[in-house]
Amino acid sequence: MTKFYHITTYGCQMNVHESEKIAGILAELGYESCENIEDADIAVFNTCCIRENAENHAFGNIGMLKKLKKNKRDMIIAVGGCLTQQIGKAETLHDMFPYVDIIFGTHNLGKLKDYILKKRTQKKAVIEVLESEGEICEDNKPLRTSYPNAWINITYGCNNFCSYCIVPYVRGRERSRRSENIIKEAEELISLGYKEITLLGQNVNSYANGTDDISFPELLKRIASIEGKFRLRFMTSHPKDFSEELAKVIAENPKICHSVHLPVQSGSNSVLKAMNRKYTVEDYLKKVDILKKYVPDCTLTTDLIVGFPNESDQDFEDTKKLVEKVGFSSAFTYVYSKRNGTVAAKMEGQIPEEVSKKRIMSLIELVNSLTRQQSKEYVGKTVEVLCEDYDKKRGLYLGRDEYGRMAYFKSEQDVLGEFLLVKVTDANGISLTGDIV
Ligand code: SAH
Ligand code: SF4
Ligand code: F3S
Repeated sequence: MTKFYHITTYGCQMNVHESEKIAGILAELGYESCENIEDADIAVFNTCCIRENAENHAFGNIGMLKKLKKNKRDMIIAVGGCLTQQIGKAETLHDMFPYVDIIFGTHNLGKLKDYILKKRTQKKAVIEVLESEGEICEDNKPLRTSYPNAWINITYGCNNFCSYCIVPYVRGRERSRRSENIIKEAEELISLGYKEITLLGQNVNSYANGTDDISFPELLKRIASIEGKFRLRFMTSHPKDFSEELAKVIAENPKICHSVHLPVQSGSNSVLKAMNRKYTVEDYLKKVDILKKYVPDCTLTTDLIVGFPNESDQDFEDTKKLVEKVGFSSAFTYVYSKRNGTVAAKMEGQIPEEVSKKRIMSLIELVNSLTRQQSKEYVGKTVEVLCEDYDKKRGLYLGRDEYGRMAYFKSEQDVLGEFLLVKVTDANGISLTGDIV
């Protein structure tokens, strides 16, 4: 009898890709994917804890499985990811949801197969969260679900300890994969027909620092010189480590997209200092200038946090000023969320929720107006898009141009994974609509 799995993913691209690795492990055990969790013989929750709401979301969904598990006693429920990696969280989870069968952390994803096999032979829950990172495991073959896009991890963990952020605590210290393994993976993906490769790391710019391996710009150059038509992206770039050499490599290698995600977080120097970001607004603008000097058409996207402890009205105004000045093409905007164990959690001057709410609304409005304005400038132009999906509801295909802008269009044939020229006829907020030419 066929066995089915369902994976619920929370959090960042890194987690989405890790769910592909989990899917690979489940496929190896003979499970097939299913859409509805009710049909699954094994349900895996790959959790995130970057903000409180991510955590609550996961808790809520795991809680909802109690009833299902009651009627389906053989179903295995596994919980992994960043949430479980927090100190004491595995025990809390086990106490709250005793029907969860397997709890594992971010450092031992590769052992999930063993945990499942063990669970099949015992009644007791299998709980293992490792404290230390260990060696990078190259064995997990992901079952990719995002054709024509493919993600490749280049680093794991983070050494930056931004004062608000829990990632260094749940992902451990920064470790880089060997460049030969990364390049080999990229070559394989391209030969399989993948058309967009995104290199992933919390701070890709510090790739291989302190080792004898090649630098990040050199790694990009080597991947960009692989034969075939494809796009190359990377995220995330920490502004403090964004170099002129990197800007040059982007300019000189046409396969690297002219769109860089450069999270600024705040436009106030005192807030940036308290965040431990290690750059000032002036440093950030200098990096933007360097990038634009070599790649004039490069667009920028960013992450912004409002309501960091002690953020004044003036600090917030300075953030808006910076957003306007840089003219980001889009931005992820977040309300600061206190994370236990981080330095900022102990700071005085936490901002009341109503103030943060007001600020985020005003910031979203500003970011959206920039995005809308830039969308309008597209009307009448022809852009090259990579077709990435089909929207069943609208009966339209959708793709993105190299700057990351989404465009909808009609096609009688299946054009998924193809590069197409689309003439933009309409701009609708963030996305565009057009016709294949
Ligand atoms: N390594 C990446 C980002 C990882 S987390 C970087 O440094 O850019 C993604 C984003 O979540 C961050 O850029 C930040 O804007 C946001 N974030 C992280 N911790 C947060 C917190 N405690 N509250 C609100 N937003 C947070
Ligand atoms: Fe978190 Fe900062 Fe590391 Fe990004 S660079 S993961 S924000 S600590
Ligand atoms: Fe990503 Fe969330 Fe972990 S943002 S690194 S899944 S805490």
